[in-house]
Amino acid sequence: MPLPKAELHLHIEGTLEPDLAFALAARNGVTLPYADTEELRRAYSFSDLQSFLDLYYALMAVLRTEQDFADLADAYLARAAEQGVRHAEIFFDPQAHTARGVPLGVVVEGLGRALDRSEERYGVSTRLIMCFLRDESADSALETFEAARPWFGTRITGVGLDSAEVGHPPAKFREVYRLAADAGLHRVAHAGEEGPAGYITEALDVLGVERIDHGLRCLEDPDLVDRLVREQVPLTLCPLSNVRLRCIDTLADHPLPAMLAAGLLVTVNSDDPAYFGGYADDNLRAVEEALKLDREELRLLAANSFRASFLDEERRAALLAEVAAYEFEPGAA
Ligand code: HPA
Ligand code: ZN
Repeated sequence: MPLPKAELHLHIEGTLEPDLAFALAARNGVTLPYADTEELRRAYSFSDLQSFLDLYYALMAVLRTEQDFADLADAYLARAAEQGVRHAEIFFDPQAHTARGVPLGVVVEGLGRALDRSEERYGVSTRLIMCFLRDESADSALETFEAARPWFGTRITGVGLDSAEVGHPPAKFREVYRLAADAGLHRVAHAGEEGPAGYITEALDVLGVERIDHGLRCLEDPDLVDRLVREQVPLTLCPLSNVRLRCIDTLADHPLPAMLAAGLLVTVNSDDPAYFGGYADDNLRAVEEALKLDREELRLLAANSFRASFLDEERRAALLAEVAAYEFEPGAA
């Protein structure tokens, strides 16, 4: 049994495995520009964030019905459970679907169908966070926000910000984040993945976010690091993603150990596991091996994932107790 953990940075569209993509394409009569899964997999070679996003958005063409979204989420939750994930806070990109003519209700109710059964089937509690595409306009984000109101506090418990970062600073979304706060939603944002450390500060100060997704580039600003440590702002790191999107050269260069040593509240997550080579525990094992993490560092990362989550206090305490009591297999780590 893997170490119990929470997954806090996971784009549900990024869990679309090639097999499922082809199955959904056949079911919906969509033709993919790849002959088979092998050819598709060969396209998973990225030079930066944008080169990934191009494929990520293109493959979404196969997602059309509520059942498609339910199947996608159910396949993810089954895999997450195998990886020791006990709680998942799941991002989705409403604009990427509504722009293709798929109604928001199809997306939210489809995902919701799978999420509703998750605790009972897999022992995985869930939250759903809708992300605004930062390379779309602030007005488009506002429109999306208003359209999603019927699900606030029930299906949708938070807002996030993703897609192409550079040139799209957090402050562009000041208004919609203010409305999200008024609506009682949690707020997170991608910042400091490809964008500068200043975007992290701006996400905290202008958007009032409770967590930073990625946040890798905080290390370029020592005063910001001091602040993140002092305020214990969680950073949802995604190590395999960072290598695949060339934010860092190799896993052995990942600053995770230095970030832990500095007292940052870092967590390890999978981002878009179908594209980046691994789910939650795969990421943890990869950093364990490449960075020679010891058992107590792994335990700290798992505990951090629950501390940084939006869980109610009772379940958080129960899961933290499981982490504290976890017995590593002999010989492992
Ligand atoms: N960064 C920004 N946007 C994204 C990502 C990411 O890693 N994955 C899916 N959308
Ligand atoms: Zn992400």
